[in-house]
Amino acid sequence: MFFDYYCFMTCILGIETSCDETSAAVVRNGDLLSNVTRTQLFHSEYGGVVPELASRAHQRLIIPIVSQALSQAGVRKDELTAVAAVHGPGLIGSILVGLSFGKAMSFGLGIPFIGINHMEAHVLSNLIGHHRPGFPFINLTVSGGHTQLVLVKSAFEYQLLGETRDDAAGEAFDKVAKMLGIGYPGGPQIDKFAKQGNSSAIDFPRPFLGEDSLEFSFSGLKTSVLYYLRRTRLDIVSFSKKPNLLADICASFQAAVVDVLVHKVLLAAERWAVTDLAIAGGVAANSELRQRLQDEAVLRGLRVFIPKMEYCTDNGAMIAMAGYLRARESKFSSLELAATPNLALGEQEPMKLR
Ligand code: KG4
Ligand code: ZN
Repeated sequence: MFFDYYCFMTCILGIETSCDETSAAVVRNGDLLSNVTRTQLFHSEYGGVVPELASRAHQRLIIPIVSQALSQAGVRKDELTAVAAVHGPGLIGSILVGLSFGKAMSFGLGIPFIGINHMEAHVLSNLIGHHRPGFPFINLTVSGGHTQLVLVKSAFEYQLLGETRDDAAGEAFDKVAKMLGIGYPGGPQIDKFAKQGNSSAIDFPRPFLGEDSLEFSFSGLKTSVLYYLRRTRLDIVSFSKKPNLLADICASFQAAVVDVLVHKVLLAAERWAVTDLAIAGGVAANSELRQRLQDEAVLRGLRVFIPKMEYCTDNGAMIAMAGYLRARESKFSSLELAATPNLALGEQEPMKLR
């Protein structure tokens, strides 16, 4: 058993629908039994997530995904002890689908409901499995909508050390990929092309924002890629003739982002005298970030924890795990809990509809 001091049975269904992943998972007594995720790939046609289409797709997918999560876990509905679902932050229409479904299921089954903060769940994705950081640890959550450096004191005690002033790291990846004409979502594409490129080919700026700052800003870096493309008159046509150029731009941009992220995680670790580091969120799937953080940490005698790829991008497993930890402390939510698109980290208490 994951937390051996937990002495009563729990079986939690977790539901994630905050953006363009419909995902459900089952965690029994802290052990992950299943995690079924469907990414809505059709958004790539539009160069970004179309909120109305995302919520309609969640509606179509929610029943099959939840059914699959239960059957893969070998768990019947009547064996569940609570249902957890995201209530923010994210796209309101998308959140509403999973939240309403989760509430309805808990009401129908007569079991508690637990509203989950998506940003808290990303932090807690590091506790899935047996190789997990000890408290306190520094966590960097880097996703399409957020860049947050957090001191995690316990499962529910966080100190936000710094966040982005403008674009999130994932957003910068997506926007630069759009400029380069290599599709959406941009992060995995840039990661792929960068593997063939020279990361010192172009000296893009590193937005450190001062020696001691734990804040982030990626909008200027994104603009310097735009100016570089204008100055050199490069576009999709030139890239098809000179693929190395595209690879060099991707590698150089990625190196600039990774330099800043790694520097700030290490700075936070030093300042707070913490030895365990973790990363979470979609950008944590970036191969260069994973490698560099690992290498730099080893040099300093620090330990790095990175969730498996499927728990970095949005997933039901992190929601079910957060639900399990909340259930352990009887932190249940009201069925009147509202969908909250701008929910901040640490803002957890049930919010009632007026
Ligand atoms: O956490 P996530 O799945 O959804 C949000 O909550 O936003 O993160 C999605 C973001 C997108 O911006 C995507 O481009 C980025 O994560 N991403 C990556 C990689 N895989 C996904 N960024 C860089 N490298 C990757 N390999
Ligand atoms: Zn996310």
